Amino acid sequence: ALDWSGLTQAIAGCQQCGLCQTRQHAVAGQGVLKPRFMIVGEAPGEQEDRQGQPFVGRSGQLLDNMLRAIGHGRDSSVFITNVVKCRPPANRNPRDEEIAACAPYLSRQIELLEPQAILAMGRFAAHALLNVTGPLQQLRQGTHGVTVHGRTVPVVVTYHPAYLLRRPVDKRLAWEDLKRLKACLAGA
Ligand code: URA
Repeated sequence: ALDWSGLTQAIAGCQQCGLCQTRQHAVAGQGVLKPRFMIVGEAPGEQEDRQGQPFVGRSGQLLDNMLRAIGHGRDSSVFITNVVKCRPPANRNPRDEEIAACAPYLSRQIELLEPQAILAMGRFAAHALLNVTGPLQQLRQGTHGVTVHGRTVPVVVTYHPAYLLRRPVDKRLAWEDLKRLKACLAGA
């Protein structure tokens, strides 16, 4: 089993699926190594692929604002990553085989980082992380769990920031999700 730097190098050079042929950078993630919680999005977009960091575009700005509102930040207390580490061409949805090829990286990240909770952003991240289907509306209700190597981590599902940019009225609902997330953290 890989340690953190071995894992990060393996992601950077990964050739387990076809996305390696079109990516500029695999995006392993960004944040602190003993995070209070982890944030899991879908896959890198164009700017993330170019810069090698997750959530650097407009969605990332909104995400940073949301984090700040609950007293957290990518430089201080969280780790941000995606279900799929490489950009799907033209931002198409990742395919099942791409998700499957990438899944061991996310599991190992969760195992090594030992977050107290995970925030899954968007239907796609929720489905891949929880291995369920169903509408986001429904998955937002209640707290789920993901078990990695015998340790169960609470998972809160919320809207993807790109969706909130299109429908700012739903930020109110995302705020409820963030409060539920915060309640999962020790000394919240
Ligand atoms: N959207 C995502 O889901 N992930 C990113 O890293 C950027 C945008």
